[in-house]
Amino acid sequence: PVERTLSIIKPDITKKNQIGEIINILEKKGLRIVGMKMIRLTPQLAAAFYQEHNTKPFFKGMIEFMCSSPVVAICLEGENAIQFNRKIMGATNPHEAQDGTIRKIYGASIDANAIHGSDSPPAAAREINFFFKKEEIFS
Ligand code: CMP
Repeated sequence: PVERTLSIIKPDITKKNQIGEIINILEKKGLRIVGMKMIRLTPQLAAAFYQEHNTKPFFKGMIEFMCSSPVVAICLEGENAIQFNRKIMGATNPHEAQDGTIRKIYGASIDANAIHGSDSPPAAAREINFFFKKEEIFS
């Protein structure tokens, strides 16, 4: 099925001037950008976005990292977009990610792992709504 998923280009990438390289990979792989915005997350916004992780030991450091520079929120559309995007991204830990994946090429650590992607259809719906109004998505 044609799906939408939410991707976030993380602060490590925006700091390194590599936004275009990540977008280029996503588009070349066939995903379509149907919504996109740059935003500096506040701790409140980041905590709300990552609420499912709020009891994890890595929560505080991850929130600090996500607020350390602007991010780019992207709504992607394509056939099986949710799983396909996760495959392109690679494993959460860049050191465990397969060769050729975004996190393997661009990630430096488990926090500075270049990119986020929704992990399920309900998560994708919630995360797209978190960043975008209906009229900000262009199908
Ligand atoms: P992301 O897909 O954005 O979802 C939560 C983020 O927490 C994850 O990517 C990682 O960047 C970060 N993180 C830090 N430590 C861990 C960990 N031990 N397990 C999972 N995610 C972690």
